[in-house]
Amino acid sequence: MSQRVLITGGASGIGLAFARGFAGRGDRIALCDADAAAVARVRGAHPDFIAETVDVTDPPQMDAFLARIEAAWGGIDVVCANAGTGGPAGRIEDLDYAAWTACVGVNLFGAFLTCRWAERLMRAQGSGLILITTSTSGFHAVPHRSPYVAAKWGLVGLMKTLAMELGPSGVRVNAIAPGAVEGERMERVVEMEARAAGCTPDEIRAQYADGTSLRSWVTSDNVADMALFLASPAAKRVTGQILAVDGHTERMV
Ligand SMILES: NC(=O)c1ccc[n+]([C@@H]2O[C@H](COP(=O)([O-])OP(=O)(O)OC[C@H]3O[C@@H](n4cnc5c(N)ncnc54)[C@H](O)[C@@H]3O)[C@@H](O)[C@H]2O)c1
Repeated sequence: MSQRVLITGGASGIGLAFARGFAGRGDRIALCDADAAAVARVRGAHPDFIAETVDVTDPPQMDAFLARIEAAWGGIDVVCANAGTGGPAGRIEDLDYAAWTACVGVNLFGAFLTCRWAERLMRAQGSGLILITTSTSGFHAVPHRSPYVAAKWGLVGLMKTLAMELGPSGVRVNAIAPGAVEGERMERVVEMEARAAGCTPDEIRAQYADGTSLRSWVTSDNVADMALFLASPAAKRVTGQILAVDGHTERMV
C-alpha cells in the first residue's frame, strides 16, 4: 500500500535517494531542503513530489511546512529526519560558538522539530516509522569534528528515547548510520583532507575504503535500500536500532 513519506534535506544526496527509492515503490513524497536551487531542480525532475525550501532550524518555517503536509495528507507514515551539515573542523579551542551551534542546530535541533510533529501524528494513528540519519561518527569519535560527532551521538540518544516513548503506540524509530558515501559532499571533505595532509585525493579515498571490512565506499542508493527495508513489513519488529550502512567501519579516517 502506498505510504506518505516526508524527508528533510531531501533535495540532494542521501535524502534525494530516499525520495526516489520510496517513490519507486509507489509512495507519496514530501521533502524540504534549505537549498532553493536544489529544490527547484527536484521540482523540475519530479513534479509529483511536494518539494519546498525550508530551513529545519527555523521553527516558524518548519511548523508552516509541516502544517501544510498535515492538511494535504491528514497523516504520515514515514518521516526521515535527514538534513545535516558537516560543520567546522578544528581543535575545540579554535572552534567558534556560532559555528558549533549552527552544526548542532541543523543535525540535532532540526531533527527535534521534525520528530515532535511526527510523534503527535503517529501516536494518534497508532502507527508510523521515524528514520533518523546519523553517521558512523555517531558511534565512533573523529578528532577535529567535535560538533558533528556530538550532534550525531545526540541523535542516537533522541532515537533511543523516542523508540521507548512511541513503541507502546505502535510507532517504530530507528537510526541509519552511513559510512563514507560517494558524492559531492564527501568529495569536498576528501579535497580538504588531502590539502591538510599534503597527499592526493586518491590516497584519502583509499584510506576511507581501507578503514572498512568491505574495503569500499557506499552509495546513496545503498543507504536508501536500508530505509526501504526498515519501512517494509520485513522490519516490523525492528525499533530502537542504529543500522549502519558502512561496510563495517574498523577505523575512522
Ligand atoms: N555523505 C556522507 O558520507 C555521510 C556519511 C554519514 C552521514 N551522512 C548524513 O547523511 C545526511 C545527508 O547528507 P548527504 O551526504 O546526502 O549530504 P548533502 O549535503 O548532499 O545533503 C544534505 C542536505 O541537507 C540540506 N540541508 C542542510 N542544512 C539544512 C537546513 N538547515 N534545513 C534544511 N535542509 C538543510 C542540504 O541543503 C542538503 O540538500 C546528513 O545528515 C549527513 O550528516 C552523510
